[in-house]
Amino acid sequence: MSALAGLDAHAQRLAGTSIAGLIETDPSRARDFALRVGPLYANFARQRYDRAALDALFAIAERTNLKAAMRRQLDGEIINATEGRAVLHTALRGDNSTAAVARDARAQAVAALGRMRELIAGLEASDVTDIVSIGIGGSDLGPRLVADALALPGARFRVHFISNVDGNAAQRTLAGLDPKHTAAIVISKTFGTQETLLNGRIVHEWLQDDSRRLYAVSTNAQRVADFGIPAERTLPMWDWVGGRYSLWSSVGFPIALAIGMDRFEQLLAGAGAMDAHAAEAPLRANIAVWHALTAIWNRNALHAATQAVLPYDERLKLLPNYLQQLVMESLGKSVHVDGSAVDAETVPVWWGGAGTDTQHSFFQALHQGTQVVPADFIGVLQAAHPFHDNHAALLANLLAQTEALANGQASDDPHRRYPGGRPSTLLLLDALTPQSLGMLIALYEHSVYLQSVLWGINAFDQFGVELGKQVANRLLPALQGEGEADDTVTRELLREFNARR
Ligand code: F6P
Repeated sequence: MSALAGLDAHAQRLAGTSIAGLIETDPSRARDFALRVGPLYANFARQRYDRAALDALFAIAERTNLKAAMRRQLDGEIINATEGRAVLHTALRGDNSTAAVARDARAQAVAALGRMRELIAGLEASDVTDIVSIGIGGSDLGPRLVADALALPGARFRVHFISNVDGNAAQRTLAGLDPKHTAAIVISKTFGTQETLLNGRIVHEWLQDDSRRLYAVSTNAQRVADFGIPAERTLPMWDWVGGRYSLWSSVGFPIALAIGMDRFEQLLAGAGAMDAHAAEAPLRANIAVWHALTAIWNRNALHAATQAVLPYDERLKLLPNYLQQLVMESLGKSVHVDGSAVDAETVPVWWGGAGTDTQHSFFQALHQGTQVVPADFIGVLQAAHPFHDNHAALLANLLAQTEALANGQASDDPHRRYPGGRPSTLLLLDALTPQSLGMLIALYEHSVYLQSVLWGINAFDQFGVELGKQVANRLLPALQGEGEADDTVTRELLREFNARR
């Protein structure tokens, strides 16, 4: 892509320079390549760029007018052009626009929060002890991540999640629960998702068709009513909130049940603070812009095929799963907004897991494999438990890995040689609170959007997932003994399936 073309020259210029060499010749980058927004600190000093390459990246940010792009999003312009929609998840977490459409969205969001609070008060006054949340993709991953990360011992409700259409998920989840003391929420923006409707029916029946403890979140009130859930227990969703950006909306109902309504609102406030920063901070002082430009550098200048995300906090172990949808469903595109082919590589494969467990699984490949994998390391400085030695060991490992991957270590023995040159960003939260987690997630959302602007693609549609759904719907009758498949291989495989099950 022409906008990114100049980056190759910088990558070639730096090809013979190690990360350790970059830091040795410019030691103040350890401080200069770091930014803080409230409880969130980011350090980019161990990336494989120097100041001249960064200048080129920020020049691209200026030319692409990232600041104006942020404003367009907050003001509710139709930036999801292929679906003709505004993208206003930012209106769910603060007053950040004077545009009428954004203010209207904000008013609807505030009203929905009020209703959510009332429903929660009703459940708190009941004998319900357990909540089952049924949804998939954006209607599951965000709530699951945040409920798991921020749950406190002694919470009023235990919150469980069913997403997979595999019946084992429903069976295992329901096995330990009592239908008399369980409420269920069916969450689906469209209320047309196969997995969610099948699992919703299982739970509906399991509740002995007593829909008094059945709740819904959806844009489609009619489908919810047809399913048997009344309007007074249905929370709204809107077209202007994308599924993978929806944990801040009524889709966050299970979060609010798991962590309490006040802490849910703190989560929104944290995200709102990041929105204000991303929209207002100058480019060079803007964490979201640094993060997005770093992603572009690693993908388009260094040609990294994958990107790891490595939270060093057990409570954030679901973050990689969540980010896989956020980043890859948003940026897994190969055409520009106008339909023309993209001539740069877009999203790498995102993957990861929580440290220190992952050090004993895939870190060998990170240190000595033939592929260089850029990584985001995420740490939490203040422990929320009394095991101080463990926490010191955790932080020592976090620091050690970023240093060892970047610097490597020479040896005469090739088996014991560490090449180094493995770039990483370090993101630190002072403590894991609703506010800091809200900021962290919103940072990734903004980085994703800015990357999409730099690549000229639409981050907010997901047509790629439709084809598989259509084929599955066509094949379902054949699995139930009716009809045949058109495709030769599928036909043969169906014979095998049906003969042996
Ligand atoms: O995976 C495709 C997708 O459309 C996601 O974008 C979405 O989050 C998920 O399905 C669930 O959709 P819904 O909330 O409509 O059930």
